[in-house]
Amino acid sequence: MQYGEMQKILSEHGQLHVLKWWDELDEAGRTQLAKQIGQIDWELLSLVHKEAEADRGEILPIDGLDLGEIAERREEFFSLGSSAVREGKVAAVMLAGGQGTRLGSDAPKGTFDIGLTKPLYIFEQLIRNLEDVVRTCGAYVPLFIMTSEANDAETQAFFREHAFFGYPEREIFFFRQEMAPAVDLNGKLLMSAKDSLALSPNGNGGWYASLMRAGLVAEAEKRGIEWFNVFAVDNVLQRMADPVFLGATIASGLATGAKYVRKAYPEERVGVLCLEDGLPGVIEYYELDRKMAELRDQAGRLVYAYGVTLNYLFRADILRSIAEKRLPVHIAKKKVPCLNADGVLVEPETENGCKFETLILDMIRCAGSCLPFEVEREREFAPIKNRTGTDSVDTARVLLEKNGVKL
Ligand code: UTP
Repeated sequence: MQYGEMQKILSEHGQLHVLKWWDELDEAGRTQLAKQIGQIDWELLSLVHKEAEADRGEILPIDGLDLGEIAERREEFFSLGSSAVREGKVAAVMLAGGQGTRLGSDAPKGTFDIGLTKPLYIFEQLIRNLEDVVRTCGAYVPLFIMTSEANDAETQAFFREHAFFGYPEREIFFFRQEMAPAVDLNGKLLMSAKDSLALSPNGNGGWYASLMRAGLVAEAEKRGIEWFNVFAVDNVLQRMADPVFLGATIASGLATGAKYVRKAYPEERVGVLCLEDGLPGVIEYYELDRKMAELRDQAGRLVYAYGVTLNYLFRADILRSIAEKRLPVHIAKKKVPCLNADGVLVEPETENGCKFETLILDMIRCAGSCLPFEVEREREFAPIKNRTGTDSVDTARVLLEKNGVKL
């Protein structure tokens, strides 16, 4: 894009400040910045001013399988699910493109060492969990790992350096998600360097579109994959390709399944499974109003209690049509390192910016049907979001030890 054209577009959108250091840039810097400016989705950026308008439909609780019902039908579910794994119909998809800003480390989250007496990396623990299924079912599960531009090289190098933690390399595939620019709280584009916008991964909602772009949907089809089990990198107790969950979802005839834990308290920062205008969906913790979050039934149990653990099953045949729809854009306030007016990079102490993200939870709504499937919190939910306190390295270590993992 020519300088004049760029100036015009930026001026129309009140973003001319991103050219402030243009004269100082070398050719490579100018090319990079111009390319980033050319790729800006202006429609997306304009949403920052519409945040308050986001309207939701009629929210009602959703029915799901609880622990008791699952225990009663365990054998039936297991038999169905383990056959599917054995027949190579299931793939696992690890979402590892996030920045993990709350953890406060620049490295990919999965490279974080949670060991105490010996190294134990998050990626390693997840591979161990997957190997449990391989052992139980007698077949490898292909693992697709989503990274972002910011952490792809480091993630891949880490896996190679550790010989894929013993998992066969032919069963592991990496693919990258897209990036989106961040803005300050007034909607002004933030810069991470004089020649670069502050770009960040565009949320986990684009995983299937990115998988497709990487040519890996074709690979999955070639292998006869019928189910994708998508999960977060940060839950070290994550049970992926879980035959019982898989069997229950297959038996239900529904297009998706979602593992949930009963919310521990109303303010817990987990998305909640519910019905919205009759369709299954997930409401993010920051979108659930206080009255609903605190609502209890006659037995005193929270009504909106199905906290999602970011472990979903998607039937492969519905994913192409979902990827063609435009998912809603969520605007998350985050701490975004950026240049100050003097061109110096600063690490903010409080939220200073907005990131635009599409979320996997909205794919559940697009799919139109979902089986909520309860799991025991103490056995399957140890998310590492923060370094200390709630959902942290500390809490995850306690839970891992309770589950017999040597740290
Ligand atoms: P989170 O919502 O916890 O975001 O991601 P995050 O980026 O990891 O962490 P914070 O909020 O900055 O501290 C939930 C899951 O979705 C993945 C993450 O890697 C994690 O597994 N994710 C998130 C992506 O793969 N891409 C994204 O753009 C965002």
